[in-house]
Amino acid sequence: MIVILLGPPGVGKGTQGVLLCEQLGLHHLSTGDLLRAARREGTPLGQEAQKFMDAGQLVPDEVILGMVGEKLTEMGRDAGVVFDGFPRTVPQAEALGALLSGLDRRVDRVIVLTADDRVLVQRVSGRRSCPECGTVYNVHFNPPSEAGKCDKDGAALTHRADDSEETVATRLEVYRRQTEPLVSFYERSDAEVRHVDGDQAVDKVQGLMQEALGQR
Ligand code: AP5
Repeated sequence: MIVILLGPPGVGKGTQGVLLCEQLGLHHLSTGDLLRAARREGTPLGQEAQKFMDAGQLVPDEVILGMVGEKLTEMGRDAGVVFDGFPRTVPQAEALGALLSGLDRRVDRVIVLTADDRVLVQRVSGRRSCPECGTVYNVHFNPPSEAGKCDKDGAALTHRADDSEETVATRLEVYRRQTEPLVSFYERSDAEVRHVDGDQAVDKVQGLMQEALGQR
């Protein structure tokens, strides 16, 4: 099964994508996570991406497509995949379609997660992550037991550079202009598109997503 998670910054794509993959035995492919890993490792791709990410702008399509193509090859042609944060532009969606059709596959489901901007800004500004194990917390909704420290390994939690209020406003605007048109792109395709209200408890949203995938 090929699933795409669409939705604005902070709506819960990463949180829900990880859970969905654990529950259904699918691969999680987050372009944001791949770019942040490339930045940490200081690769040329990571250095190229940094200026776009810090400004809240999209990284150029050709950089993203090369990275996704490589990852899909690694996963194998029959792998079930949940795409999180990809595609983000119509050219990315068209390129993914071409890549999948070369493997005799297609996008099966698209889940569009929604929430008000006020909720999104609060979630993003409260997000903290563990640089060691990747666990994501939220100072408002899901704080660690000891402030600033990861429950799993005690590492000092970090705040993403692009989670400042100013950059979040840009990311929301970029989402509306460049990514939201993908909802109608997929509604016109063979993929089944489902909308899920992301402004509910994490396990409730997860349940609705599994229902949307016909897994409950
Ligand atoms: P990316 O990492 O994809 O960021 P994003 O789409 O802006 O999404 P976020 O990671 O901010 O939010 P999320 O929806 O995953 O929410 P999360 O689950 O973390 O991309 C970053 C940048 O990389 C882009 O700006 C761009 O520059 C570049 N990029 C990436 N992909 C690209 C592409 N394809 N093309 C071009 N450029 C690309 O949750 C957020 C917070 O809320 C967390 O603290 C979490 O604990 C909390 N939370 C989640 N769900 C709930 C809930 N139900 N209740 C309460 N709190 C919750």
